[in-house]
Amino acid sequence: MKRKIEIEYIETIDLEQLSKIEKELMTKAINVANTAYAPYSEFNVGAALILENDKIITGNNQENSSFPCGICAERVALFSANSMYPNLEIKKIAITAIANNFILTHPVGPCGLCRQVLIECEERQNTEIEIILFDSNKIIKLQNAKSLLPFYFKEDQLKRKKP
Ligand code: THU
Repeated sequence: MKRKIEIEYIETIDLEQLSKIEKELMTKAINVANTAYAPYSEFNVGAALILENDKIITGNNQENSSFPCGICAERVALFSANSMYPNLEIKKIAITAIANNFILTHPVGPCGLCRQVLIECEERQNTEIEIILFDSNKIIKLQNAKSLLPFYFKEDQLKRKKP
């Protein structure tokens, strides 16, 4: 049987289609991208998320001379939020990037690892996390993280206690 997965998203450049909070998240994502520690890639990423109590948490990429030690902006923000406010829902996350060595032609999407983490945050809180990917030319809005990663890894039995 052949099956097809469709992903629904909004693409716009009209800032008027965004709420005040969404615009604030975008400004914070740009600001935090500017202070990323990315001396190796010179590719700065910023993420800003809002919690159900309206608190905004930001994150940027943190690199290391031992390359695999580095971590993406999205996971810095998500893990900070879950660490500081483990019981609060994440409502939305805005993500952007600044490339210092080339011109970005489209909004950057989160990497596979960050998608997996975003999805587990959604499952943990049992509500959707809206995703806003943007650059100066385009804004992409997705209703939830799950739509970013079909066939994501999920195995509830890993949480089971051993007999
Ligand atoms: N990076 C992020 O921060 N988020 C992503 O979703 C993709 C990539 C960072 C990791 C690394 O510091 C730099 O961008 C280049 O890959």
